[in-house]
Amino acid sequence: MASDFFSRISDGTGEFFVLGGDGIWRKSSSGRTVEIISPSTGEPLGKIQSMAPVEIAQTILEARNAQKAWGALPAYERSEIIRKAASLIRENEPLLSEILVKEIAKPVSLAKDEVLRTAEFLEYAAEEGKRIQGKIAYGDSLPGGKKEKMSLVERVPLGVVVAISPFNYPINLAASKIGPALVSGNSVVFKPATQGAISGIHLAEIFRQAGVPKGVFSAVTGRGSEIGDILVTDRNVSAVYFTGGTKTGLALAKTVGMIPLLLELGGKDAAIVLPDAKIEETAKAIVSGAFSYSGQRCTAVKRVLILEGDETGEKIVRRVLELVSKLKIGSPEEDSDITPLIDGVSANYVWELIEEARSLGAVPLTELRREGSLIHPAVFDRVPLSSRLAWEEPFGPVLPIIRVKSVKDAVEISNKSEYGLQASVFTENIDLALEIAKSLEVGTVQINGKPSRGPDNFPFVGAKSSGIGTQGIRYSIENLTRAKSTVLNLSRGNF
Ligand code: NAP
Ligand code: G3H
Repeated sequence: MASDFFSRISDGTGEFFVLGGDGIWRKSSSGRTVEIISPSTGEPLGKIQSMAPVEIAQTILEARNAQKAWGALPAYERSEIIRKAASLIRENEPLLSEILVKEIAKPVSLAKDEVLRTAEFLEYAAEEGKRIQGKIAYGDSLPGGKKEKMSLVERVPLGVVVAISPFNYPINLAASKIGPALVSGNSVVFKPATQGAISGIHLAEIFRQAGVPKGVFSAVTGRGSEIGDILVTDRNVSAVYFTGGTKTGLALAKTVGMIPLLLELGGKDAAIVLPDAKIEETAKAIVSGAFSYSGQRCTAVKRVLILEGDETGEKIVRRVLELVSKLKIGSPEEDSDITPLIDGVSANYVWELIEEARSLGAVPLTELRREGSLIHPAVFDRVPLSSRLAWEEPFGPVLPIIRVKSVKDAVEISNKSEYGLQASVFTENIDLALEIAKSLEVGTVQINGKPSRGPDNFPFVGAKSSGIGTQGIRYSIENLTRAKSTVLNLSRGNF
């Protein structure tokens, strides 16, 4: 995984550095590192620095000091730097994809999609960054007010944004925070997921080489459980933008002080299948929705709700099983659909949900099989509502089918979840689909499509335990800037 372009980020023997506020890559003064092991091959991929608290405080201080000049730069110049980062990502796609395959066991084709999607995201963000505009509000809109009192409402950057990304999209869900934050004039301290940090460090070097000034962007590494609190409670931090699990998000919400907090968290997305659903399209959407990247996506289809006795539903289940039987199981290097999960702990958790569901009477429709952290795709029918699989987020290749008595029942079960990310409704009856969509307590309803975050200009938002705030290029920029009002009190009759 060597390349001259990235020669600064490691010592050449596989020990990766951190990017300080002085723009220099170096080892941590802690002398401690974390070893990153490939989930698919078990091969050590390198070591990342475990940063000391004092270094993190220093990095944040440098970010604070550098932000003013960056925020004052012409928007066009910031936009050009983000555009340059996008083009460097394109140029380095083969290497970045290779790292994703090794570090997070993402299949080759999905890894490439992630990298190219990131370049497209940043190109769009660079454009949007040129269009951050305010407005003028007049005082005569309320009784007794005057036109001569006017508010010049600008959008100004928040300051220092701490960006924390999850393991499953180490490039894309990092850049989708960093890009909007930088283009709108914030400085960014980026903390990648530990499993995903090698990918994140490469991305950080791309932003540096694209021309983001020192201090405006830096990368810190170390276990979130050790450095997370120090990062998010520093008094120089102005906002925290986080994607990850609901448990971590909830802990952050309790820790972070009175600053804006954007949380994109877990989900338990339901696919509601109605009797007039198209069989082939619905089955394909369910299978790719549930099993892409082995189900390690917040927007994976995590339960299917089918009406009891519905013949179309039966046909869809049969077709789902045919498609599942064709999924390639194996290694990410061979572009298999199902690859080893991120670690043994995650695989054990998925297996626990599988075993409990089986013990409570759920009917397995596929062979239940596991080799280490490689779990074969599992489909269960008649999953009882008493099982954890009906409610918890496995983040693995397991699809529960729940039989419901009525559409009302389906909506009720969907809404009973603590999560509220997305839901899908499959039907040809658009009137009914819209009515159902209205009743679903989620951020997004997909009609005749699988849940998904993109396209990245759409709002992506979690209700309930799925998050706070809205992601999506324009929406992220809105969230990472604030209104600043300057009120003019003009006098009349000067000529
Ligand atoms: P995670 O364990 O919550 O970790 C996410 C990030 O938080 C990592 O960078 C992690 O660092 C860091 N972290 C851990 N403890 C922390 C603390 N106390 N303070 C601050 N940061 C801390 O999640 P994950 O396993 O990477 O990702 C899977 C979860 O993310 C799933 O639940 C999934 O649904 C959710 N997700 C949601 C979205 C969305 O947009 N809604 C997108 C992707 C994933 P370390 O790696 O060092 O622990
Ligand atoms: O894992 C959560 C991601 O936000 C899902 O993104 O729908 O594009 O796979 P995706």
